[in-house]
Amino acid sequence: MPPALSDLQQRSLSHVWHPCTQMQRAWQLPPLPIVRGQGPWLYDEQGRRYFDAISSWWVNLFGHADARINAAIKDQLDTLPHVMLAGCTHEPAVQLAERLSARTAGVLDHCFFASDGASAVEIALKMSFHHWRNLGRPAKQDFVCLRQGYHGETLGALAVTDVQVFRDAYDPLLMRAHQVMSPDARQALPGESAADVAQRAAAELEALLAEQHERIAALILEPLVQGASGMAMHDPAYLRAARELCDRYQVHLIADEIAVGCGRTGTFFAFEQAALPDQTPIWPDLLCLSKGISGGYLPLSLVLSRNAIYEAFLDDEVARGFLHSHSYTGNALACRAALAVLDRFDQDHVLETNREQAAQLTAALAPLAADPRIEHFRQRGMIWAFDVREPLAGARFAERFHLAGRARELLIRPIGRTVYLLPPYVLDPALSAWLAEQLRATLDATLSENTDDADRAPEPATA
Ligand SMILES: Cc1ncc(COP(=O)(O)O)c(C=O)c1O
Repeated sequence: MPPALSDLQQRSLSHVWHPCTQMQRAWQLPPLPIVRGQGPWLYDEQGRRYFDAISSWWVNLFGHADARINAAIKDQLDTLPHVMLAGCTHEPAVQLAERLSARTAGVLDHCFFASDGASAVEIALKMSFHHWRNLGRPAKQDFVCLRQGYHGETLGALAVTDVQVFRDAYDPLLMRAHQVMSPDARQALPGESAADVAQRAAAELEALLAEQHERIAALILEPLVQGASGMAMHDPAYLRAARELCDRYQVHLIADEIAVGCGRTGTFFAFEQAALPDQTPIWPDLLCLSKGISGGYLPLSLVLSRNAIYEAFLDDEVARGFLHSHSYTGNALACRAALAVLDRFDQDHVLETNREQAAQLTAALAPLAADPRIEHFRQRGMIWAFDVREPLAGARFAERFHLAGRARELLIRPIGRTVYLLPPYVLDPALSAWLAEQLRATLDATLSENTDDADRAPEPATA
């Protein structure tokens, strides 16, 4: 029997085309009618609360309705909500560009703004291609991406994405990109370490670049954690190898830190963990940031670029410039929210407290990590994930787990049979213990269900 719908749910299903959703199915599994958010909690119309265990698609950093981010946006609202960034400029955009550049010690010293993650990826791809073209090397127009990579769902970003459920229908429209082995540590052969897998994956990349570098503009990857394909984690050795190979073969390295940036993996930029053994930092050529940069408040994305790339666009001829724009590029409210986020990092020692929070939750999850029903328990920074063993997971695992979580005040969305936690940075020992307990109870409830269709094929992965 279809569930009884509230007025808001009914109207939503009648007029809102929800993202990443089979709308026919949505009448059986209607969207949660959320009316308020505070800290890590979301509240529905009935006043029921849900712990936002996935930070609202990985965007929220300090909880909902954070007092300091609220105050910054309100102040900006009364001053300058928005002005176009072509021919005009404003303090929040300039300061944000300066402060992010400083976080790369000035290596990535120019910032191009956009609104969402996929646009940042499009910009990075176009910049790379156009840079080579301006240098008189127009043949460099191919892109390399990793298997299991995800970079967004506009056509360019989808072309370098390897999540079938998102790209299959559009395949005829997509430019061809080279895919190379993911360094996902779960692929370790007996006796292999995560670093060995990274080396094996780097060897495949090397073979491709050696053969085709004259045609290749850039390699794009998600540093340390490939999110949307199921929180696949890899050893930082892969990033060092990729950097070295891209230098050797004159190929740009694009780091998509849209999900993993802003402290999520333990450092502000994930790429910082690829420093050389003597601690010399290494950096990509282009770095995409979005999601957490505005604290989960407003659409904002950006691409940080090396000066060498920027300079290749300087010319008397207009068309050699980077003629790309979005109407809300560098929106002042969003930039101001981002400045409040950076203030939190500077003033509250966020990376240090995250390390404590991560240790607490990892300790609380230790019994689950040893549970024989799961495999590949993994953690990096403020990301935890595990895979439920087949055939235990069964049909529609993600949906059943999601519903069982909701009944336990947990808002969680597994990807296929991968369960992951990506909470706001607000954990404490009591919350960690509660979270671990609810997660175990949700797993118990999901796996003990007697599903009629348990022997059908598992559902495709979606984030
Ligand atoms: C690594 C990565 N790149 C790009 C994107 C696309 O961002 P958006 O959904 O804002 O377009 C995402 C979104 O999940 C992502 O995780």
